[in-house]
Amino acid sequence: LERSVKRQECPLRANKNIFVFLGPPGSGKGSLSKLCVQTFGWNQISTGNLCRKHIAEQTEIGKQIDFAIKSGKLVSDSLVTEMVDGWLSEILETTTGIILDGFPRTTAQAQALNNLLVEKFNAIRLNVVKFNVPDDHVVVRLAGRYVCQNNNCQAVYSMVAGSSLRPKKEYTCDECSSVLSRRSDDTKESILERLKTYYIHEKDLLGFYQQHGQRIDEIDVNQELPIVFEKFQQLLGVGRR
Ligand code: AP5
Ligand code: MG
Repeated sequence: LERSVKRQECPLRANKNIFVFLGPPGSGKGSLSKLCVQTFGWNQISTGNLCRKHIAEQTEIGKQIDFAIKSGKLVSDSLVTEMVDGWLSEILETTTGIILDGFPRTTAQAQALNNLLVEKFNAIRLNVVKFNVPDDHVVVRLAGRYVCQNNNCQAVYSMVAGSSLRPKKEYTCDECSSVLSRRSDDTKESILERLKTYYIHEKDLLGFYQQHGQRIDEIDVNQELPIVFEKFQQLLGVGRR
């Protein structure tokens, strides 16, 4: 049993690989991140999760960004960059792999990240993973998404009929037994706004990375999550000896 639960050795351990998960809302960035964290022991930062935590705790930042999040607009570059900077400084010494889930979202953030990496690592080593999924699938997924209301958990489930990502007990988190509910930005208007915003910036971001000679891998995420995870490992050669 001990062997079966032991974390998989991963050839990336030695060189702190950094992944940027770039994908539309509902493409499964958070869900794939979670599998990587559980399987490889990597660290994930979701700037969206951090923003929602601020809102739930009614911090000063939370009060400032509440409206932007609900309506599907981006929060300021400086605010999210500061969050990522603080987090990177905390985990840098011990981490074996880093997933940036939903950051950078603008070229200003991408430039700020490159600057941070040069400052912290003396080099830029980024794997950009672009998630591809049709918009109509995103809308179905987000209409069926339920999230744990415990801010320190925020586990994500799918109530879409027949999904393997349903919770064991209706509207109850498998991990912490807290109640599950919809996200405040999973309304039709907000989803459309988030999709529009995403595609405006996606083009610029891809251009930025191409210009900087940074690697971009694409994944078709319009398949079951375990298959997406397998594809991710194959694509990047991770999880293999
Ligand atoms: P954020 O929380 O990052 O939202 P998002 O980008 O819209 O992405 P989501 O979290 O909605 O989707 P996901 O790709 O993680 O999918 P998930 O795994 O949940 O950001 C929210 C807001 O914060 C932004 O709008 C902005 O205001 C602000 N913000 C955040 N970062 C920012 C930044 N850098 N700059 C400025 N502002 C920022 O999966 C979705 C559903 O599908 C779930 O129900 C899941 O169970 C299901 N699912 C997952 N994979 C599959 C699969 N393969 N097949 C079927 N169902 C699946
Ligand atoms: Mg997410």
